[in-house]
Amino acid sequence: MQNKIALFVSGSGTNAQALLEYATAHNIEVNCIICDNPNAEILKKELSVPVTLIPFLGSKKAHEQSILKFLGQKEITWIFLAGYMRILSSSFIDNFHQNINSQNRIVNIHPSLLPKYKGLNAYEHFYHSSDKHTGISIHFVDSGIDTGEIILQGKINRIPNENINDFIERAKKIEHELYPKILHRAYFNNY
Ligand code: GRF
Repeated sequence: MQNKIALFVSGSGTNAQALLEYATAHNIEVNCIICDNPNAEILKKELSVPVTLIPFLGSKKAHEQSILKFLGQKEITWIFLAGYMRILSSSFIDNFHQNINSQNRIVNIHPSLLPKYKGLNAYEHFYHSSDKHTGISIHFVDSGIDTGEIILQGKINRIPNENINDFIERAKKIEHELYPKILHRAYFNNY
């Protein structure tokens, strides 16, 4: 059986767009997109799948319960975090993993070669370091911050004198190439 996919976004959603473009080109159905942020850029975009806004209204528990209810109604089995800025609680993660069947998974894309530069602003941390390369990591989500099992990584070399905007643009192109590979595997249950 094919997996049912949800994307979670809080911001510009360029990874979500890349996933949707890949999905359309490869007959993959993305079931829904959930956004927690009423000011997110993604809400202004025309996409092949509508974005459902589930705003945070002050209670993490209530917010996560609304999301779990929505996911349960849609029978979602895989969540792709794509610039989702909230930390999922261990109760959310456990609950989702127990939902419907035990094959449910949550994945995230992180802008560094984990375990280096966990947390926010990883590209900026690399850029201002003396490291010669960084990369991106796609990993399963557990209850830690960027600590789950790594599925796929891509390396990005430093180009001397490149400005930070160009560097981030170049890095995000690599994100947009790699994340759809995992969508493909997830959708066709190739794990
Ligand atoms: C990406 O850099 C991703 O690696 C990180 O958040 C950013 C989201 O960007 N987790 P976008 O919203 O997909 O453009």
